[in-house]
Parts: sequence; C-alpha cells; structure tokens
Amino acid sequence: MTFPIHRMRRLRSTPALRDLFQETKPHTSDFILPLFVDENLKTPQAVGSMPGVFRHTLNSLTHEAERAHSLGIPAVLLFGIPKTKDVLGSEAYRKTGMLQKAVRTLKKEVPSLAVITDVCACEYTSHGHCGILQKNDVANDPTLKLLQKIALSHAEAGADMVAPSDMMDGRVAAIREALDGNGFENTPVLSYAAKFSSSYYGPFRDAADSTPAFGDRKTYQMPAANAREALREIELDIEEGADAVMVKPALTALDVIAKAKEKFLLPLWAYHVSGEYSMVKAAEKMNWLQKDVAMAESLLAIKRAGADRIITYWAKEAAQFFKRG
Ligand code: PBG
Ligand code: ZN
Repeated sequence: MTFPIHRMRRLRSTPALRDLFQETKPHTSDFILPLFVDENLKTPQAVGSMPGVFRHTLNSLTHEAERAHSLGIPAVLLFGIPKTKDVLGSEAYRKTGMLQKAVRTLKKEVPSLAVITDVCACEYTSHGHCGILQKNDVANDPTLKLLQKIALSHAEAGADMVAPSDMMDGRVAAIREALDGNGFENTPVLSYAAKFSSSYYGPFRDAADSTPAFGDRKTYQMPAANAREALREIELDIEEGADAVMVKPALTALDVIAKAKEKFLLPLWAYHVSGEYSMVKAAEKMNWLQKDVAMAESLLAIKRAGADRIITYWAKEAAQFFKRG
C-alpha cells in the first residue's frame, strides 16, 4: 500500500511539524572553535583567505575565547605561530612558547572553557613540514620524539586535551607514553586519525604560516581515494590508546565518518576545515549563495553522517544559528 495512503509531504507542511520530525538536531555545544595565536603581533591580524578569522595576540585571543564560551562553545582548539622557526621545530616545545603561554592564560582567565592543543611541527619548522626531515621527506621515528616533547609541553601548560595532527605512525602510543611517564595519565589524546591530504587546507596554511617550502604532505597524509585505509588508521590509533578520533576534512569524507561511527565506539569528531569555510564565504561575497543556509546545511550533514562534535571556524555563528533551531 503506497500513495495516496502514504504522503511524505504531510510531515513537512508547517515549520512546527518540520521541527517535530527533525532527526538531526545540532546543539550549541557541538561546535569547537579553532583559534590562532601569533607571537609576532601587537594587534590582531585578519587572515585574508578566511574572512572573519584572525591571528590573535594573547589579549585578543582571550577576548575571543570568552566571547565564544559565552555563546555556549565548550572548547577551543589552539594553534601557535612562533617568532622563530628552525629545521627541527624546537620552538614548538618551549615552556615559554606562545602556545604554552596562551594555554596558561586561557586556563586562568576562562577556566570552564576546555583548551585543546594541536600537536604538530609544521608551524615551527623552517621548511613547513610536519616533522624532522631526512632526505627531503619527514622521518617517522625521529619525529615521534619531537611530538612527545610538544605534547608534554602542552600538558604541562595545562591543556585539557592534546590533538596530534601530524599523521606519523605510532604517534598516539608515543604521546601516551610521554604523558603517562610524566604524571599526565589523565590528559586525553584526540587523534587526527584519518586526515586526508587536501587542497582544502590551503587557507589554514595562510593562517598558520605552515605551507611546506617544497613538495607536499602526501607521504604522511592519506590519499582521498582510500576509505578502508582511513578506517585502518582509526583502528590503529585506537589500539595505540587514542581517547577520541577525528576525521578530516569533513564534507569530503562523510562516508568515512559514517563508517567509523558504525565500526568504533570512541567519540568521533570531524574537522570542518578552512577551505570548506572559505569557499562558502567567497560564494557569499559573490552573492552566489546564502551563507547561513549553506553553513547550516554543511554542519547538519556532518552531524547526520555521525560526527559527535564538529571543529569549525563557524562555531560562534553556528552556536547562535542552532539555538534558534
Ligand atoms: C597542521 C594542521 C593542518 C590543519 C590542522 N592542523 C594543516 C595541514 O595539515 O597542512 C588543517 C586545518 C584546516 O584546514 O582548517 N598539521
Ligand atoms: Zn603539521
């Protein structure tokens, strides 16, 4: 028995009915805001390729974090841009580095806001790659030692969670060991477990000053074609002790998010990345689409696919939008 008994349009006929039958309901607390703090600045600086996003000073970072938290954003993901870079990325783990200072400041000024730190070397290496180079490629095992030092320095500064984004093999186990060996057995690791090599990171690399000086990141980040391999990456990170896992980018990997949600029981996050944000911003500027509607549709799709939380440059706007339903 089908039409005219069944009429799908019945449930869509008024806003009230549409609301009653809405399956996916994003909430303000689903959204995590990435923030950039730059040691070189006296005043905040707009990121050209990401309208609405700034590189912050310690001061403006604190204000932005307060504003986001007051809208209901539960956490920020911090990136640091140092004054000096070297081949070994040694600035990344300095106790008094910009990011470490920022963590201390935020935990003092906005204590109920969770501070997550991105653990990677690419903002700190003179060559812009995510680890230590040998023969023009990132050497896996030497990089693990660097990542241990970075993660530990973040935990010591008071980070609520560390999030390695480098895609080295064995980094979750290495970071877990370094944290546990130094009294941080309660600091969780959020792994960027399935991170695809992506053109959608372009605007971020402007923001974080982390464009590789030569080549690309294809020997460590995942090929877009491989979903089964992405699930293996997630599985291995879970075995190594990850507390939560992330898929990135989001919109180009909705299938991976959906499969990972079925397969694994860990909290599953998605990173709605810079290019996904910027392309809608650009289209809005051209009057080619309505930003808020496109934003909501993208975030709904990511949540519908199975993401428990979404890291997005739209966190503040999304928090306000989904408060209204
Ligand atoms: C650094 C890092 C990147 C992103 C998060 N951490 C860039 C990259 O891998 O080149 C991307 C975030 C975004 O595009 O918003 N390893
Ligand atoms: Zn990196």
